[in-house]
Amino acid sequence: MKFFVDTADTAAIRELHELGMVDGVTTNPSLIHKSGRNIKEVIAEIAEMVDGPVSAETVATDYETMVKEGHEVLKLGKGNIAVKVPLTWDGLRACKHLSSEGHMVNVTLCFSANQALLAAKAGATFISPFIGRLDDLNLDGMDLIADIREIYDNYGFKTQILAASIRSANHMSEAAKIGADVATAPPDVIKKMASHVLTDKGLAAFLDDWAKTGQSIL
Ligand code: E4P
Repeated sequence: MKFFVDTADTAAIRELHELGMVDGVTTNPSLIHKSGRNIKEVIAEIAEMVDGPVSAETVATDYETMVKEGHEVLKLGKGNIAVKVPLTWDGLRACKHLSSEGHMVNVTLCFSANQALLAAKAGATFISPFIGRLDDLNLDGMDLIADIREIYDNYGFKTQILAASIRSANHMSEAAKIGADVATAPPDVIKKMASHVLTDKGLAAFLDDWAKTGQSIL
Protein backbone atom coordinates (compact mmCIF):
# COMPACT_ATOMS: atom_id res chain seq x y z
CA MET A 1 0.00 0.00 0.00
CA LYS A 2 1.34 3.41 -0.95
CA PHE A 3 1.47 6.14 1.72
CA PHE A 4 0.33 9.63 0.86
CA VAL A 5 0.58 12.39 3.46
CA ASP A 6 -2.59 14.37 3.97
CA THR A 7 -1.27 17.83 4.74
CA ALA A 8 -0.01 21.11 3.29
CA ASP A 9 2.58 21.42 6.08
CA THR A 10 5.85 21.27 4.12
CA ALA A 11 8.05 20.74 7.21
CA ALA A 12 6.01 17.67 8.20
CA ILE A 13 6.14 16.32 4.64
CA ARG A 14 9.92 16.83 4.52
CA GLU A 15 10.45 14.92 7.78
CA LEU A 16 8.52 11.88 6.52
CA HIS A 17 9.99 12.19 3.04
CA GLU A 18 13.51 11.88 4.45
CA LEU A 19 12.47 8.51 5.91
CA GLY A 20 11.14 7.34 2.55
CA MET A 21 7.58 7.27 3.87
CA VAL A 22 6.04 9.59 1.28
CA ASP A 23 4.74 8.12 -1.95
CA GLY A 24 2.59 11.19 -2.58
CA VAL A 25 0.72 14.05 -0.93
CA THR A 26 -2.92 15.07 -0.75
CA THR A 27 -4.20 18.54 0.03
CA ASN A 28 -7.62 20.11 0.15
CA PRO A 29 -8.94 23.67 0.63
CA SER A 30 -9.16 23.19 4.42
CA LEU A 31 -5.55 22.02 4.62
CA ILE A 32 -4.40 24.96 2.47
CA HIS A 33 -6.29 27.29 4.82
CA LYS A 34 -4.65 25.61 7.83
CA SER A 35 -1.19 26.13 6.28
CA GLY A 36 -1.84 29.87 6.02
CA ARG A 37 -0.02 29.86 2.69
CA ASN A 38 -0.79 30.68 -0.92
CA ILE A 39 -2.06 27.58 -2.74
CA LYS A 40 0.20 27.98 -5.77
CA GLU A 41 3.29 28.57 -3.68
CA VAL A 42 2.70 25.65 -1.34
CA ILE A 43 1.67 23.14 -4.04
CA ALA A 44 4.74 24.08 -6.12
CA GLU A 45 7.00 23.56 -3.10
CA ILE A 46 5.49 20.15 -2.31
CA ALA A 47 5.58 19.02 -5.95
CA GLU A 48 9.25 19.97 -6.16
CA MET A 49 10.07 18.04 -2.97
CA VAL A 50 8.31 14.75 -3.74
CA ASP A 51 8.23 12.74 -6.94
CA GLY A 52 4.89 11.04 -6.36
CA PRO A 53 1.44 12.45 -7.09
CA VAL A 54 0.50 15.67 -5.32
CA SER A 55 -3.24 16.28 -5.23
CA ALA A 56 -4.33 19.89 -5.67
CA GLU A 57 -8.06 20.47 -5.36
CA THR A 58 -10.19 22.62 -7.63
CA VAL A 59 -12.74 24.88 -5.94
CA ALA A 60 -15.15 25.66 -8.77
CA THR A 61 -18.45 23.81 -8.84
CA ASP A 62 -19.08 24.00 -12.59
CA TYR A 63 -17.36 21.76 -15.12
CA GLU A 64 -15.82 24.45 -17.34
CA THR A 65 -14.18 26.38 -14.50
CA MET A 66 -13.09 23.15 -12.83
CA VAL A 67 -11.22 22.16 -15.99
CA LYS A 68 -9.64 25.64 -16.20
CA GLU A 69 -8.54 25.42 -12.56
CA GLY A 70 -7.21 21.93 -13.22
CA HIS A 71 -5.03 23.20 -16.08
CA GLU A 72 -3.78 25.96 -13.78
CA VAL A 73 -2.74 23.67 -10.91
CA LEU A 74 -1.14 21.21 -13.35
CA LYS A 75 1.41 23.95 -14.16
CA LEU A 76 2.65 23.88 -10.55
CA GLY A 77 4.31 20.47 -10.74
CA LYS A 78 6.79 18.50 -12.77
CA GLY A 79 4.16 16.19 -14.23
CA ASN A 80 3.26 14.94 -10.73
CA ILE A 81 0.09 16.94 -10.00
CA ALA A 82 -3.18 15.04 -9.63
CA VAL A 83 -6.14 17.35 -10.14
CA LYS A 84 -8.62 16.77 -7.35
CA VAL A 85 -12.27 17.21 -8.22
CA PRO A 86 -15.36 16.59 -6.09
CA LEU A 87 -17.67 13.67 -6.74
CA THR A 88 -20.44 15.70 -8.32
CA TRP A 89 -21.80 15.38 -11.83
CA ASP A 90 -19.68 18.35 -12.95
CA GLY A 91 -16.71 16.82 -11.15
CA LEU A 92 -17.17 13.59 -13.10
CA ARG A 93 -17.32 15.55 -16.35
CA ALA A 94 -14.11 17.38 -15.41
CA CYS A 95 -12.55 14.02 -14.49
CA LYS A 96 -13.40 12.57 -17.90
CA HIS A 97 -12.06 15.67 -19.67
CA LEU A 98 -8.77 15.87 -17.77
CA SER A 99 -8.10 12.12 -17.72
CA SER A 100 -8.74 11.98 -21.49
CA GLU A 101 -5.98 14.59 -21.84
CA GLY A 102 -3.69 12.21 -19.98
CA HIS A 103 -3.69 13.95 -16.61
CA MET A 104 -3.99 12.28 -13.20
CA VAL A 105 -7.33 12.94 -11.53
CA ASN A 106 -8.26 12.28 -7.90
CA VAL A 107 -12.03 12.19 -7.39
CA THR A 108 -12.69 13.19 -3.80
CA LEU A 109 -15.55 13.26 -1.30
CA CYS A 110 -16.66 9.72 -2.16
CA PHE A 111 -19.15 8.21 0.27
CA SER A 112 -20.74 5.36 -1.68
CA ALA A 113 -19.81 2.42 -3.89
CA ASN A 114 -22.01 3.83 -6.68
CA GLN A 115 -20.05 7.06 -6.64
CA ALA A 116 -16.81 5.07 -6.87
CA LEU A 117 -18.18 3.10 -9.82
CA LEU A 118 -18.98 6.33 -11.68
CA ALA A 119 -15.52 7.77 -10.97
CA ALA A 120 -13.87 4.66 -12.41
CA LYS A 121 -16.05 4.89 -15.53
CA ALA A 122 -15.01 8.57 -15.87
CA GLY A 123 -11.34 7.54 -15.91
CA ALA A 124 -10.28 8.61 -12.41
CA THR A 125 -6.70 7.78 -11.47
CA PHE A 126 -7.67 7.80 -7.78
CA ILE A 127 -10.96 7.53 -5.94
CA SER A 128 -10.95 8.95 -2.42
CA PRO A 129 -13.51 7.31 -0.12
CA PHE A 130 -13.66 9.17 3.21
CA ILE A 131 -13.48 6.64 6.05
CA GLY A 132 -13.45 8.91 9.11
CA ARG A 133 -16.38 11.06 8.05
CA LEU A 134 -18.53 7.92 7.61
CA ASP A 135 -17.39 6.59 10.99
CA ASP A 136 -18.41 9.94 12.49
CA LEU A 137 -21.99 9.13 11.43
CA ASN A 138 -21.83 5.68 13.05
CA LEU A 139 -21.42 4.08 9.63
CA ASP A 140 -18.48 1.83 8.80
CA GLY A 141 -16.08 3.63 6.48
CA MET A 142 -13.98 0.50 6.10
CA ASP A 143 -16.98 -1.38 4.65
CA LEU A 144 -16.97 1.14 1.83
CA ILE A 145 -13.30 0.44 1.07
CA ALA A 146 -14.10 -3.29 0.94
CA ASP A 147 -17.12 -2.75 -1.33
CA ILE A 148 -15.14 -0.62 -3.78
CA ARG A 149 -12.27 -3.14 -3.79
CA GLU A 150 -14.71 -5.93 -4.66
CA ILE A 151 -16.40 -3.92 -7.42
CA TYR A 152 -13.17 -2.69 -8.99
CA ASP A 153 -11.71 -6.22 -8.91
CA ASN A 154 -14.88 -7.69 -10.46
CA TYR A 155 -14.40 -5.57 -13.56
CA GLY A 156 -10.67 -4.86 -13.60
CA PHE A 157 -11.01 -1.10 -13.13
CA LYS A 158 -7.57 0.52 -12.96
CA THR A 159 -8.68 3.40 -10.71
CA GLN A 160 -6.66 3.27 -7.50
CA ILE A 161 -8.50 3.21 -4.18
CA LEU A 162 -7.08 6.02 -2.07
CA ALA A 163 -8.40 5.54 1.47
CA ALA A 164 -8.89 9.05 2.86
CA SER A 165 -10.17 10.80 5.97
CA ILE A 166 -8.00 8.45 8.01
CA ARG A 167 -8.10 9.22 11.71
CA SER A 168 -6.14 6.43 13.39
CA ALA A 169 -3.25 4.03 12.92
CA ASN A 170 -5.77 1.16 12.94
CA HIS A 171 -7.41 2.67 9.87
CA MET A 172 -4.07 2.27 8.06
CA SER A 173 -3.69 -1.46 8.76
CA GLU A 174 -7.39 -2.12 8.09
CA ALA A 175 -7.17 -0.36 4.73
CA ALA A 176 -4.03 -2.35 3.90
CA LYS A 177 -5.72 -5.65 4.83
CA ILE A 178 -8.62 -4.89 2.51
CA GLY A 179 -6.24 -3.99 -0.29
CA ALA A 180 -6.58 -0.23 -0.67
CA ASP A 181 -3.95 0.85 -3.20
CA VAL A 182 -3.09 3.99 -1.26
CA ALA A 183 -3.91 5.49 2.12
CA THR A 184 -3.55 9.16 2.85
CA ALA A 185 -3.11 10.13 6.47
CA PRO A 186 -2.09 13.15 8.52
CA PRO A 187 1.59 13.07 9.59
CA ASP A 188 0.75 12.38 13.25
CA VAL A 189 -1.25 9.26 12.30
CA ILE A 190 1.68 7.92 10.27
CA LYS A 191 4.00 8.52 13.23
CA LYS A 192 1.57 6.80 15.61
CA MET A 193 1.87 3.63 13.53
CA ALA A 194 5.29 3.17 15.16
CA SER A 195 3.89 3.19 18.71
CA HIS A 196 3.03 0.20 20.83
CA VAL A 197 2.66 0.16 24.59
CA LEU A 198 4.57 -3.13 24.82
CA THR A 199 7.46 -1.63 22.84
CA ASP A 200 7.65 1.24 25.36
CA LYS A 201 7.36 -1.14 28.30
CA GLY A 202 9.92 -3.57 26.87
CA LEU A 203 12.40 -0.80 26.11
CA ALA A 204 12.06 0.62 29.63
CA ALA A 205 12.79 -2.82 31.14
CA PHE A 206 15.81 -3.38 28.90
CA LEU A 207 17.25 0.05 29.75
CA ASP A 208 16.66 -0.57 33.43
CA ASP A 209 18.61 -3.83 33.34
CA TRP A 210 21.30 -2.29 31.15
CA ALA A 211 21.88 0.48 33.70
CA LYS A 212 22.48 -2.24 36.34
CA THR A 213 25.33 -3.72 34.27
CA GLY A 214 27.31 -0.48 34.54
CA GLN A 215 28.52 -1.00 30.99
CA SER A 216 28.59 1.32 27.97
CA ILE A 217 28.70 0.48 24.28
CA LEU A 218 30.48 3.63 23.12
C1 E4P B 1 -7.86 13.61 1.48
O1 E4P B 1 -7.69 13.68 0.30
C2 E4P B 1 -8.96 14.28 2.19
O2 E4P B 1 -9.03 15.59 1.80
C3 E4P B 1 -8.80 14.14 3.67
O3 E4P B 1 -8.34 12.84 3.97
C4 E4P B 1 -10.03 14.51 4.45
O4 E4P B 1 -9.84 14.17 5.79
P1 E4P B 1 -10.79 14.70 6.96
O5 E4P B 1 -12.11 14.03 6.86
O6 E4P B 1 -10.07 14.33 8.23
O7 E4P B 1 -10.89 16.18 6.77
